[in-house]
Amino acid sequence: MNYEEITKKIKRIASQNLPVEKKMEQIISCLYEEFEKYNWIGVYLVKNNKLVLGPWRGEKPTEHTVIPIGKGICGAAAKTGRTEIVPDVKKDDRYLACFTSTRSEIVVPIKKNGRIIGEIDIDSDFKNSFNEKDAFFLEKIATIISDFVN
Ligand code: SME
Repeated sequence: MNYEEITKKIKRIASQNLPVEKKMEQIISCLYEEFEKYNWIGVYLVKNNKLVLGPWRGEKPTEHTVIPIGKGICGAAAKTGRTEIVPDVKKDDRYLACFTSTRSEIVVPIKKNGRIIGEIDIDSDFKNSFNEKDAFFLEKIATIISDFVN
């Protein structure tokens, strides 16, 4: 499927009469299955000024299930509200290591009424996996998620 078809599929998932958590799970699964370079994907939601891990897909669980705002790449994106693309995690001092296989990362904030309510975090086992196209596409997906999250 191309970006447009995946976006349509995700919009269909979002419009289903399902609990918020279930919709997020299905969206994360869809992205994980569609992109070979997305080796780990999760949604973090802001709770009490911290990022708390929600649904995720990948081979292994991460130990970073709660991340303070401002810490790591995830915390940076949550603090500034800007998408973070890290082409080589070994060259970024902010990086919080989860998996030894990870080489690059993208973090896309989820905003609602100007507030940062969460983010989509994706790790790739390949260097330079993420570009402006991924950012643009995932920012659209973040908007779709924000529309059904309270
Ligand atoms: N690498 C992230 C931590 C989360 S794991 O990738 C799942 C970071 O630097 O914030």
